[in-house]
Amino acid sequence: MPQYDVIIIGAGPGGYVSAIRCAQLGLKTAVVEGRDTLGGTCLNVGCIPSKALLHATHLLHEAEHNFTNMGLKGKSPSVDWDQMKSYKDEVIGQNTGGIEFLFKKNKIDWIKGWATIPAAGKVQVGDEVHEAKNIVIASGSVPSSLPGVEVDNDAGLVVDSTGALSLPKVPKKMVVIGAGVIGLELGSVYARLGSEVTVVEYMDAVCPGMDKDVQRNFKRVLEKQGLNFIMGAAVQGVDTTKTKAKVKYQPKKGGDEAVLDADVVLVATGRKPFADGLGLDALGVKMTERGQIATDAHWATNVPGIYAIGDVIEGPMLAHKAEDEGMAVAEVIAGKHGHVNYGVIPGVVYTAPEVATVGQTEDALKAEGRKVKVGKFMFMGNARAKAVGQAEGGFVKIIADAETDRILGAAIIGPAAGDMIHELCVAMEFGASAEDIALTCHAHPTYSEAVREAALACGDGPIHS
Ligand code: NAI
Repeated sequence: MPQYDVIIIGAGPGGYVSAIRCAQLGLKTAVVEGRDTLGGTCLNVGCIPSKALLHATHLLHEAEHNFTNMGLKGKSPSVDWDQMKSYKDEVIGQNTGGIEFLFKKNKIDWIKGWATIPAAGKVQVGDEVHEAKNIVIASGSVPSSLPGVEVDNDAGLVVDSTGALSLPKVPKKMVVIGAGVIGLELGSVYARLGSEVTVVEYMDAVCPGMDKDVQRNFKRVLEKQGLNFIMGAAVQGVDTTKTKAKVKYQPKKGGDEAVLDADVVLVATGRKPFADGLGLDALGVKMTERGQIATDAHWATNVPGIYAIGDVIEGPMLAHKAEDEGMAVAEVIAGKHGHVNYGVIPGVVYTAPEVATVGQTEDALKAEGRKVKVGKFMFMGNARAKAVGQAEGGFVKIIADAETDRILGAAIIGPAAGDMIHELCVAMEFGASAEDIALTCHAHPTYSEAVREAALACGDGPIHS
C-alpha cells in the first residue's frame, strides 16, 4: 500500500489549498515544499508582501495629499523603509505560519525539500522516495525576463518582483519594464515613496486585455499620482555599471533607440510556468507549446495518477484560480465532481483606486458579434465615494446581453473595487440579469450602490447621474 493517497508538489495557494481539501475529504496527504516557509510565491514574495507595502504607502499618500483638505493638519509621516520592510515581513510570517498551523490541524505532512518524480506513484525528495496513489503538481511560476536584460535581485539594480520587495533603499529613479499588474502595483509603491517612476510598455495601453475604458482611466489616474509612461516602446536591453542602469528602448512604430537612466530597473514582463527538476521529460508528461503542463478537463496529465494545477498549467496566473483548481482536483481524486467556472474568475489590481474585472470585455463580445448593452455609472454620483475623496475618475461598468439582460462581464475602477466585484461574480455564477441586481436593495451609503446604479443603467437608467 502506498504511504499516501496524495502527494502535492508545491505549497503555494494551489498546493496548500488542495492539500487541505484532500485532508478534509479523508485522503492521507503530504506536500513537498522546498522553501523554508509554506505559501509559495503568493505569501512569500507576491500577493501578500506587495499588499502590505501598497497599504503602508497608500496611507502615506493619503497623509501627504488628502489630509489637509479633511482638516487633518500637521507634519506628514516620514518613511522608515527598513521598518516598512519589517512590517511586510511580519505580515508574511503571520500568513505562512497560519498555513503551517492548518497543515498540523488537518494532519498533512510537510516533506521539506525539492521533489522529483522518478515514476508515476513515486516522489523523491533528497534520498527518500515516497509513494502515493496520486501526485498533484502545483509548482507554480517564476518571473520571466527579456533577452538582453539580466536580473540580479541580490545586486538590487535590475530586479524582478521578488527583488523589488526588498530593495536596500528607495531608489531616486526607477524604470519599470511592463505596464502589467506587477509593474503598476510595485511602480505605485515606489512612486508613493518618492521615486521618479517611468513605466515602459510595449503595447499602447496599460494592462493588456483589460476593458479599454478602464485602461484609459487607470493610466490617467496613475499619471496624476506621478507615474510616467512611455507607451508603444519595446525594451531592447539594459546596460549596467556598478550602481546605475541604462534601459534601451525602441518605439514600436520605428525610430531611434532611446535610453533611460535608472537607479533600479524592475522587470515586470510576465511570468513563466515552473516545472524544472521534476523529471517530467523522462516521464513523458505532455507539455503545451508555451511550456505549461498539458491537462484535461479534470486536471489530469497524460500520465495516469499525475495531475497539475495553478500557474504551471494553462489559464490566468492568479492565486485564486490555482486555489479553485486545487479544491476541484481534490474532489476529483476523492471520486467526487470537481468544477471550476473559468468564465467567472475575477482579476484585481491592488493600486489606489483598485481595478477589478470579471467575465468578458465589451470589445471582445462585440468582436464576437454579440449584441450587448452597457451600463456605466461614475463614482462621482456615489455619495460614499465622495465622502472619502475617492470619487474622481472611477466607475462601474456592466456588460449584459442585449436581449436576455444576462450579465456577461463587468469592470470596476474605484475604491474597494476588488471586493465589490464579487457581487457581480456571484450574479454571473447564478446566471443573473442586470435587472436582478437593479432590483436588489443596496445599503446606503456604500460603494456598492454604484454597482446597482450600473445595473440600472442597463435598463431604464440610473438615479444619480
Ligand atoms: P503581465 O503579463 O501582466 O504584463 C507584462 C507587460 O510587459 C505586458 O503589458 C507586456 O506588453 C509588457 N512587455 C513585455 N515585453 C516588453 C518589452 N520588451 N518592452 C516593454 N514592455 C514589454 O505580467 P506581470 O505584470 O509581470 O505579471 C505576471 C503575472 O502575475 C500575471 O499573470 C499577473 O496576472 C500575475 N499577477 C497578478 C497580480 C494580481 O492579481 N493582483 C499581482 C501580480 C502578478
